[in-house]
Amino acid sequence: MQPLHNKVAIVTGGSRGIGAATAILLAKAGADIVINYYSSEKDALNVLAEVEALGRKGKIIQADVRNTEDVKKLVNQSFSEFGKIGILINNANIHFAFKSFMEMNWEEFSYKLNNEMSAAFHLCQEVVPHMEKQGEGKIVLISSGLSRTPSQGFIAHGTAKAAVSTFAKYLAQELGPKNIITNVISPGLVITDATKDQPSESHEMLRSLTPLQRLAKPEDVAGAILGLVADWNKHINGAYIPVNGGMDMS
Ligand SMILES: NC(=O)c1ccc[n+]([C@@H]2O[C@H](COP(=O)([O-])OP(=O)(O)OC[C@H]3O[C@@H](n4cnc5c(N)ncnc54)[C@H](OP(=O)(O)O)[C@@H]3O)[C@@H](O)[C@H]2O)c1
Repeated sequence: MQPLHNKVAIVTGGSRGIGAATAILLAKAGADIVINYYSSEKDALNVLAEVEALGRKGKIIQADVRNTEDVKKLVNQSFSEFGKIGILINNANIHFAFKSFMEMNWEEFSYKLNNEMSAAFHLCQEVVPHMEKQGEGKIVLISSGLSRTPSQGFIAHGTAKAAVSTFAKYLAQELGPKNIITNVISPGLVITDATKDQPSESHEMLRSLTPLQRLAKPEDVAGAILGLVADWNKHINGAYIPVNGGMDMS
């Protein structure tokens, strides 16, 4: 039996990077997939084709997860299409200003905080009633190692991701009695469109400091996500799981 047999998963930011790899792996594990995208319709259609080639159903839905009405539309359309929602992967990569604290203004800083948390808050509030009705659900929120270990220029990103990590613990506590399991996956550097143009010297430095001696691929993160949402996970709840090859074990 496949670990996600008969399950429906929404993956936000499913058109590229970690979200695309996750959509495909969850489909391989037996789930039908809602592939949310913002602007990359062609990439979303490619992911859909891969999901369908695996014999699963898929649907691409355009929605800006920063926008509350779009989030409602995303969840409503997912439910109309599949009649249930058992898994949410809150992954979409919200833009942030890459600046030091003294160069940044409040608008830039709060833009990332507000949008990152608005997406997580509203998506979870929309899916939880569906999970409650089914008597089970799995939520994974994507954080970042930068939420615990600072790096120059990432103050808005790291602070917003720290909020996501703490938010997840509150959900795990409140929703646990309803058999809804919430966890955080916290990647280190993963080579995606978001990071591929960073200086190669800094990538090489991180690689050499990583016990596994390589940087993560999106599929590495997808594997960790599958481990948390699969039927076999019955008791990991409120966890913060780093995916960094052992680069940071704090
Ligand atoms: N890459 C890393 O090193 C790394 C490390 C730690 C954590 N993370 C986290 O992992 C997650 C995925 O990152 P990634 O590197 O895979 O990103 P990516 O390759 O840049 O892909 C970003 C994805 O997010 C979608 N997206 C962006 N803004 C959106 C919006 N407003 N509404 C809906 N979808 C939106 C994009 O959709 P379109 O293409 O359709 O616009 C795309 O599918 C993010 O939460 C990121 O912070 C990444």
